[in-house]
Amino acid sequence: MKKARMTLDRAYRIGAIDPRIYGSFIEHLGRAVYGGIYEPGHPTADEQGFRRDVLEKVRALGVPVVRYPGGNFVSGFNWEDSVGVNRPRRLDLAWFTTETNEVGMHEFCDWCCKANTAPMYSINLGTRGPEQARDVVEYANHPSGSKFSDMRIANGRREPLDIRLWCLGNEMDGQWQMGRKTAYEYGRIANESAKMMKWVDPTIELVACGSSSSETPTFGDWELTMLDECYDNIDYVSLHRYYGNPTGDTPGFLARTMDLDDFIRTVVAICDAVKGKKHAKKTINLSFDEWNVWYHSNAQDEEIYRRDRWGRALPLLEDIYNFEDALLVGSMLITFLRNADRVKIACMAQLVNVIAPIMTRNGGGCWAQTIYYPFLHASTFGRGTALRALVDSPVYDCADYERVPLIDATATLADDGSVTVFCVNRDLTEDFALEVDLHGFGSLRIGEHIVLHHDDVHAVNTEDAPNAVAPCAGPGGEIDGEKATIRIPALSWNVVRFVR
Ligand code: AHR
Repeated sequence: MKKARMTLDRAYRIGAIDPRIYGSFIEHLGRAVYGGIYEPGHPTADEQGFRRDVLEKVRALGVPVVRYPGGNFVSGFNWEDSVGVNRPRRLDLAWFTTETNEVGMHEFCDWCCKANTAPMYSINLGTRGPEQARDVVEYANHPSGSKFSDMRIANGRREPLDIRLWCLGNEMDGQWQMGRKTAYEYGRIANESAKMMKWVDPTIELVACGSSSSETPTFGDWELTMLDECYDNIDYVSLHRYYGNPTGDTPGFLARTMDLDDFIRTVVAICDAVKGKKHAKKTINLSFDEWNVWYHSNAQDEEIYRRDRWGRALPLLEDIYNFEDALLVGSMLITFLRNADRVKIACMAQLVNVIAPIMTRNGGGCWAQTIYYPFLHASTFGRGTALRALVDSPVYDCADYERVPLIDATATLADDGSVTVFCVNRDLTEDFALEVDLHGFGSLRIGEHIVLHHDDVHAVNTEDAPNAVAPCAGPGGEIDGEKATIRIPALSWNVVRFVR
């Protein structure tokens, strides 16, 4: 058995974990809304048409914020279409489908209440600008006595919707985006929109668009230029990143969080460079508001478009996630925890059906994909304080990275004094004995060891076999005073809970 060591000390902390790192995302895309969260006539539908079976799985995930309504969709979206009566059907040029606007701002906010979450509302800075940005904040958050607040009241909602967190557009650097902008153009429009939105409601928080990936040619320069324009009026900069494994290289795929970590550190450095240049007091933090694995559905989507351009609620981006995807998702969550001092928001993209942990069949069942489980565990146990874990692990080299630790791990300290270790064993064949030194935490025992493992990296969950890949009790280990030794199975996601 191989060996690795983790050293933890109660005094060595990264910082408080913002619960919003367990955020998610629902876009008007594919079957995320129609057939996902909303399906009137479904046996579990409530009086508003929301699927109760989906709500139950969302609530279990403990998602504190859900980004909405896009995504690429938002860059051609008119928020007014989604409120009141007589809502228009529109061609959505982001996804070449037809949007009926049956579910809109009020319905989504109602769904958020039912799901124990809060909206993170994106505005359109692609085809629209500061005027509509101002209007929508007035509509959502102003109590009454103005054109848009009174329009909200006339539409049936006396109290403000009270949306706290707003995204200033989406991926505005991308060629695929309606109303794409240069970094300077975007920085200017984001700044003017932000100013006016905060003049309407100074208590809101705003996320400016960073690059759509760390691989775009303008990455870095985009952040520098746009932050130079809008630094004073925004609160967070966004990051987006998706990974895939089209060549079936599991060690290389599982090493992708090396890139994720680099991406985060680079954006932090740029934010702080602009802070220095501006002699600013304010620190800009990170909103990693799109992240996941995305590649399984690419070929299927081309086929769908060949058959049905402009269809409604097409089964787009329906990645079926396998076991190795769950391991990478686990490592991505570990990476966010390791950067918890600066990553304050993160949204898994997305939540239901569209590159999602939760799947549904129209008129049928609802089940958890493999990636549901690491998210559930991190969101459930990874709250409180992120500890600065020193991990000493054997390493490996792969096509794109050198010295990748075989044991990817971190730890958190909960308010009740319990310590949770999250760990991915990237070794394809060998178990590890993970020695955990726990300094200054008092007397702890091993409360629980949860493992997610499958012998086949391609194993998936389906409606008929929803538990093919599911967590089970791990082998655990021993603890003697401040030293524990846990057995970590080959190729697995692990949660080890040290409790009082
Ligand atoms: O999440 C799917 C899409 O990925 C989003 O609409 C877009 O922002 C990103 O490119």
